[in-house]
Amino acid sequence: MTRILGIESSCDETAAAIVDSGRRIIAQRIASQDEAHRPYGGVVPEIAARAHAEKLAPLIEATLQDAGMTLDDLDGIAATAGPGLIGGVMVGLVTAKALAMASGKPLIAVNHLEGHALSPRLADPELDFPYALLLISGGHCQLLRVEGAGRYRRFATTIDDALGEAFDKTAKILGLGYPGGPKVEQLAREGDAKAVPLPRPLVGSGEPHFSFAGLKSAVLRARESGKYADADIAASFQRAARDCVTDRTRIALEAMGEVTALVVAGGVAANGVLRAALEELAANFGLRFVAPPLPLCTDNAAMIAWAGIERFEPGKSDPLDYAARPRWPLDPDAAPVRGAGVKA
Ligand code: KG4
Ligand code: ZN
Repeated sequence: MTRILGIESSCDETAAAIVDSGRRIIAQRIASQDEAHRPYGGVVPEIAARAHAEKLAPLIEATLQDAGMTLDDLDGIAATAGPGLIGGVMVGLVTAKALAMASGKPLIAVNHLEGHALSPRLADPELDFPYALLLISGGHCQLLRVEGAGRYRRFATTIDDALGEAFDKTAKILGLGYPGGPKVEQLAREGDAKAVPLPRPLVGSGEPHFSFAGLKSAVLRARESGKYADADIAASFQRAARDCVTDRTRIALEAMGEVTALVVAGGVAANGVLRAALEELAANFGLRFVAPPLPLCTDNAAMIAWAGIERFEPGKSDPLDYAARPRWPLDPDAAPVRGAGVKA
């Protein structure tokens, strides 16, 4: 049995977890920084990095204690080495290097996106490669064909905002606070999804890419017009986002060839309306629909430990001079998207 300590610090969660190759999460701790970033309506990189630096070491100590283990009981130390906010990534990676050096255990540098991509297999032993993965969070918005650990083909990415970002910006426009996704979903329950005419950017286009900047601007204009109730705006936005996601995913599934399942991961996978629509889409394709439990969908360290287990045979490791990577695409061969911004 291989046991790996995973460390996650690429955004606003400080997290540590110990996972074994039998798919057991032996212990995990997570410290959210929501409170620290709330006044700014989004994650402030400098504040995030400082909080990781403060919280990470005691968090790892507590995780080891919960597991009743010491570093000696581990087979390796895995940490997110990118992509993400570089200050936070460096805190996690350097901590992992120090622990690896002190314990003589191998360091495993993990791509955060690979953590999201493989985590559904931690929860579901039946999930076989290749599967279609819709990764929707605050920082990522991609459609991938997951063919094996380390083997990904990207079919779509966003040319501007990620979907979670669009939810967060909509929440900000409606004065709902941060993080906005759950609040938009809640308010939308009281609204009429047909009340506000909103665009569906890229719907109907033959390539499955995403775009949400135009939708966000339309939400802003609708709010400023003073003509609509906030709940109607929230509901109409969520409906438009749902239509975009299902259309884009359908186009990608048609292009992807055979897959065993449609899997959704990332924080926005918490959205009930989206989940229901994706489940229906999967059924139309005769595919299983897999949505990992929410704590595994949002940023966490168990997924980093699991990716460490899946990616590397025991004993294989990365060098102690492994560099943190602010950008690290899962499919480096994917063609750049015209008009795309700086998203990883
Ligand atoms: O995966 P995650 O925790 O962190 C990133 O890697 O970004 O995702 C956070 C994102 C935020 O944008 C948040 O607003 C969104 O997921 N989110 C939701 C819901 N719950 C979280 N968006 C829509 N509906 C939700 N219920
Ligand atoms: Zn993430």
